[in-house]
Amino acid sequence: MKISVIGNGYVGLATAVGLAGNGHQVVCIDNDPAKVDLINRGRSPIYEKGLEDCVSSCVGNGTLKASKDYKDVADTDITFICVGTYSPSCNGTDFTQIKSAARGVGGVLSKKKGYHVIAVKSTVAPGTTEKVIIPTLEKASGKKAGKGFGVVVNPEFLEEGKSVDCVRNPYRIIIGEYDKRSGEAVESLYRDFPVPIVRTTIAAAEMIKYASNAFLAAKISFINEIGNICKKLGIDVYDVAGAMGYDPRIGRRFLNAGAGFGGSCLPKDIEELVDTAGRAGYEAGILRAILDMNREQPQRLAEMAESAVGDLQGKTVAVLGLSFKPGTDDVRDAPSLKVIASLLEKGASVRAYDPVAVDNARMVLPKSVKFCASAAQAVKGADCVIVVTEWDEFKVESLYNGKVVIDGRRVLDPRRAGKFCDYHGICW
Ligand code: UDX
Repeated sequence: MKISVIGNGYVGLATAVGLAGNGHQVVCIDNDPAKVDLINRGRSPIYEKGLEDCVSSCVGNGTLKASKDYKDVADTDITFICVGTYSPSCNGTDFTQIKSAARGVGGVLSKKKGYHVIAVKSTVAPGTTEKVIIPTLEKASGKKAGKGFGVVVNPEFLEEGKSVDCVRNPYRIIIGEYDKRSGEAVESLYRDFPVPIVRTTIAAAEMIKYASNAFLAAKISFINEIGNICKKLGIDVYDVAGAMGYDPRIGRRFLNAGAGFGGSCLPKDIEELVDTAGRAGYEAGILRAILDMNREQPQRLAEMAESAVGDLQGKTVAVLGLSFKPGTDDVRDAPSLKVIASLLEKGASVRAYDPVAVDNARMVLPKSVKFCASAAQAVKGADCVIVVTEWDEFKVESLYNGKVVIDGRRVLDPRRAGKFCDYHGICW
């Protein structure tokens, strides 16, 4: 099939190479000329494990190309909308890019004769496709959904750092369809995948994505709460989580207690779900508690530093890890930003290091933060070291010799760490 993908971020580009790798002809549309140029030269505009190799081989064998021009949509059968919906203020989803993509595609459809399906992959709150995207498409195309064109919501569950793998090996495929014909067209793309394909309504597909992310976040905030209690009682929460995880109804994944969750999805999606519930007249207390716990958890690290070395005024604190998790340079809603804000508020000087996220962090952190070229340089001379992201290079014991260490991600073995540093685990 011929496919167009609007938006070339993590979701769009991983989707594009996944489809191109399955033999489809894919054109990536993006309004950033620099991104288009990079992709056409076989390069990836974002740092994501394995992505550049895939882009290079698909561009090389002619299954993938990029374009700035919405006109290229006309020559394809299905368009995936993968533009961002992240709003840094977290006051809800930002519809600007979604609406502009729908207007762009709609404009092309107004002149196209054959059938065309629009598949929404961008994460949008339940109701958005029917209330915002379809009306925009209908207005721009002068056609009616279900007659002139088809619409589905086909959410992506990709994890940053593993997006290529997540697209190739999904756990399930969700197709929320406006009508049967739209659903059939998109299902035909996925027939070879040996996983359940769920055909449902558009709003249910949107909710499946939000509910899944909220559940993952609930697991994290839950284990962080258990971890905070364990810390007070002198129990190791990792022993507890390991044993809980043997119960298949619970499962071990997403029970790593620590500095909390960040990223472009979990915090924003849950905030958005709380708002959606509120607008529908329901107060989502559990979801609010998940967010409250997550807001407080990074601050605990700064408080622990204060208890370990005394008043932080004039003290130097090394912060290791800025990205919201290892394997990515993404700092959106990263716990590191909250830890650093707390430290600065308490009067500390902050020396920060991350193997890949320094450029992104520099754009959002105050000028007073000093960025270091290596973990060792950040640690040298610091009164206290806080580990916020579990990059492998922070698991080296010799880095911490003789230091006060606040471990927010279990990079060190607490049973050994006391021998070479003054060790404090956030939940253990
Ligand atoms: C998440 C979902 O996993 C994915 O399905 C969805 O499509 C998008 O949102 P992502 O944001 O890439 O993916 O990150 P994820 O790997 O889920 O981690 C999110 C945050 O939770 C990170 O900050 C991570 O450090 C934290 N986390 C994760 C924990 O604190 N403990 C855990 O046990 C797992």
